[in-house]
Amino acid sequence: MRIGIDRMAFATTNDYLDLVELAKARNVDPNKYTIGIGQDQQAVVPPTQDIVTLGAAAAQKLLTPALMKNISTLIVATESGIDNSKAAAIYIKRLLGLNDFVRTVEMKEACYSATAGIQFARGIVALNPQETVLVIASDIARYGLDTPGEVTQGAGAVAMLISQNPHILNLEDTTVPYSKDIMDFWRPLYATEALVDGKYSTNVYIDFFKQTFTRYQQLTGRDLADFAAIAFHLPFTKMGKKGLESLLGERKDEVASRLRQQLKASQIYSRKVGNLYTGSLYLSLMSLLQNGNLNVGDRIGLFSYGSGAEGEFYTGILEEGYQNYMSNVEMDLARRHKVSVAKYEQLFNNQLGMKSEDVEFDDRNDPLPFVLKGQKNHQRI
Ligand code: HMG
Repeated sequence: MRIGIDRMAFATTNDYLDLVELAKARNVDPNKYTIGIGQDQQAVVPPTQDIVTLGAAAAQKLLTPALMKNISTLIVATESGIDNSKAAAIYIKRLLGLNDFVRTVEMKEACYSATAGIQFARGIVALNPQETVLVIASDIARYGLDTPGEVTQGAGAVAMLISQNPHILNLEDTTVPYSKDIMDFWRPLYATEALVDGKYSTNVYIDFFKQTFTRYQQLTGRDLADFAAIAFHLPFTKMGKKGLESLLGERKDEVASRLRQQLKASQIYSRKVGNLYTGSLYLSLMSLLQNGNLNVGDRIGLFSYGSGAEGEFYTGILEEGYQNYMSNVEMDLARRHKVSVAKYEQLFNNQLGMKSEDVEFDDRNDPLPFVLKGQKNHQRI
């Protein structure tokens, strides 16, 4: 049975920060951010947005009443959850108007869990071919003001429908998951910002990519020439380059230059949004599909990585008409509004976070379809 990604949609906040302006404010050479890290802009999160509102906004773009009827399961992958017990998926299910006979669950393993969600969804569809699974990857990446990780922050959500006879990517059978107990990036229960051993995390990422790709080669007999492109988890765009170059080395042949070109196409959107954690690989895939040089039937590799750490390398075959089943990311990004560094800092400190008192937010400037109005009696409104 052919099972895979049938539809994809992306949502991010309406505000962004120019990273050249941030570099100047931090007394850093702007080239470090734009070339060394590979980021130009970053999503800024107003208090009226959280992973529920962003996830619902992304999913709303791909749903029609007919598609909604077939959804049996809603999986929300996130590491920026708003509750330690209740799943974000239940809030999103209500906001989307899905019926009550739907299974709803939240999954966590740093940036990796949307990939686990997709793999579990394949199993559900294989057992029940008429069912579709809505997988939403939604996150807010926060490292803190004036920290080395600050330039790699970001926010947004990617929603995907997993079904039989998919319109975008038909997922192939061989997948290679790989996990180890590692402290490269984590967020203790009491913290609103991640703790990170930055340089170490980049080395673990590369190691996991090589481990999973080498095993994939052993299992399938395929090599780089069998891929039209590889999409990477992009915590910052330079990371994808480091990953790809770890395999290409000094190669300058046709295969190497093709993969390098396609990588550039996959980095375009992340460059303007920043790290989406769970959604980053899938925004990278959307960027590749909307800006790359691809043909129906091409094989695309996907490298998923989540700190802590877990990676997975898997593949899919591009389907006829795939361009027609995705939201227009370029248009969404063009509509955003630039904020100053001072405004970004103010918004950064105003997020609901772990405060327990009642609060009401002014949502008049937030054009997104769902907004967080505040908190009352320990409940988000
Ligand atoms: P840093 O110490 O600020 O940066 O940390 P640096 O000094 O290493 O410089 C970065 C690059 O800029 C270097 O290039 C410099 O040479 C270059 P590289 O050697 O890496 O190729 N550079 C310049 N280039 C041009 N002009 C200049 C200039 N100056 C310097 N003037 C770090 C960087 C990424 C470590 C930091 O931002 C950080 O800690 N980020 C967060 C952690 C992270 O993103 N890790 C990625 C792998 S782990 C992962 O992907 C999982 C994650 O998404 C979380 C999850 O799973 O939930 C993070």
